[in-house]
Amino acid sequence: MQSQANKNKTVNQPPRVGGLPILGSALKMRVDPLAYFVDLYKRHGPVFEIKLLNQTYLVMAGIEANHFLAREGDECLGSDVLFGGFAQELGSEALLTALDGPPHKHQRKIQRRGYSRESILNSIEDVVRITGGFTSAWQPNAILPVFPTLQRIVTEQLGHLLLGRSCGDYFDDLWLLLNTNMKVHVMKTHPMRLLTERRYLRAKARGNELARTVLDWQRAHPPVDRAANLVDDLISAVNEKGEPYSDQMIMATILGAYFAGMDTVAATASFMLYAILKTPGLLKRVTEEVDTVFSQGPLTADGLRQMHVLHNTAMETLRYYPVAAFTPRTVSKPFTFASFQFEQGRQVFVANTLTHFLPEFFVHPEVFDVDRYDRPDYKKVPQALAPYTLGAHTCLGAGMAEVQLMLVIASILRNVSLQLHPADYQVTVYASPIPNPGQKFSVRVIGQRKP
Ligand code: HEM
Repeated sequence: MQSQANKNKTVNQPPRVGGLPILGSALKMRVDPLAYFVDLYKRHGPVFEIKLLNQTYLVMAGIEANHFLAREGDECLGSDVLFGGFAQELGSEALLTALDGPPHKHQRKIQRRGYSRESILNSIEDVVRITGGFTSAWQPNAILPVFPTLQRIVTEQLGHLLLGRSCGDYFDDLWLLLNTNMKVHVMKTHPMRLLTERRYLRAKARGNELARTVLDWQRAHPPVDRAANLVDDLISAVNEKGEPYSDQMIMATILGAYFAGMDTVAATASFMLYAILKTPGLLKRVTEEVDTVFSQGPLTADGLRQMHVLHNTAMETLRYYPVAAFTPRTVSKPFTFASFQFEQGRQVFVANTLTHFLPEFFVHPEVFDVDRYDRPDYKKVPQALAPYTLGAHTCLGAGMAEVQLMLVIASILRNVSLQLHPADYQVTVYASPIPNPGQKFSVRVIGQRKP
């Protein structure tokens, strides 16, 4: 066993975590994988090796691992093995998440405006209206499964914001397309044959049909009397070789935009709602704040800035329930970290959110505490809070996601009264395809409340 104390000694083999035959740590990783990694970090130090089914992974953890990812990740750790298969399945290898180096940097610059915080701040009313379209149908005493409901709301909003078209009836197809590819290509926990099943192929064809409709509409309606969006920016851009992007690449990016919040924002918003309903006194504080701001008239960016408790709740949710808990990568250039050699081709998990649970960065990290950021003893340590990962691939939609989280939860709390169902429900963090509260987490609608 390798402890923190002797981490400076040069050793050849990182500590290997024992596990079940064949499965390795796979069962332990099914529920709350981050808690499992925190425990392993405390026992083994900043580098250890785990086995998941037939794959082995080197885990890098702790603040130094975060610094490494931020500074040297782009040079030494590649994304192609992680997202390349997914990109190919969508018809284009030039998908942002699967690229590295200069082509990635070039494309990221083009997409920055479409995914910006400003583009959602300019459409606050639309986001509030879309949420209201859902909540107005929630009848008293109805039991709502939170995560799937929020997946629909969030995806509808992002389609409208980023692409000028909500997904509507295509939601189920998009969901199956994303979910299957995450399991087969990204997590690599499911067999390739899922990609040949009839219902998957139908979903893929429908997804492509939607992407084609969006692209054709955008081409036929250039942004003359409307704001340019992500698709307009891609249509008018050229790649790093000076060539226009292919229709296939733009269509894959359109699908990627529909996928962007379906798991991430929806799972985070679900945990946020859970925390608000569960934490004593928090529902009252947030609702009072939301009511005060909404009573001033249509919600604006200024109004959003007044929602301090809600903002802190979003931050604390991103810390306590990080849905992108690890960053999977493949070593593209050998390097040494904490005296361990990382050979080319090794698969790596950088546990970028493990620091969220270390008391040296967050006092009593096991407590969900929305006021921690306002206390004099809170010291912001660079890269200790990393819910969107770090380095070249840091979430491009982080600013948009933060605003969307606040808008969705504020609108829901303004429109309806909810309680946990059952009232003493304790959430579980399921790991697949990314950490989420599962299908069982539900709320009961007490009633409509907007005056
Ligand atoms: C709570 C919500 C979100 C979380 C926790 C999150 C997290 C992440 C993470 C960890 C990555 C890096 C993945 C990797 O390279 O392995 C990423 C990438 C990305 N995210 Fe997000 N995301 C969220 C919401 C969003 C939203 C709402 C959008 C778009 C509106 C978005 C757009 C993107 C894009 C375009 C990338 C690719 C960046 C690149 O490869 O350079 N994300 N996100």
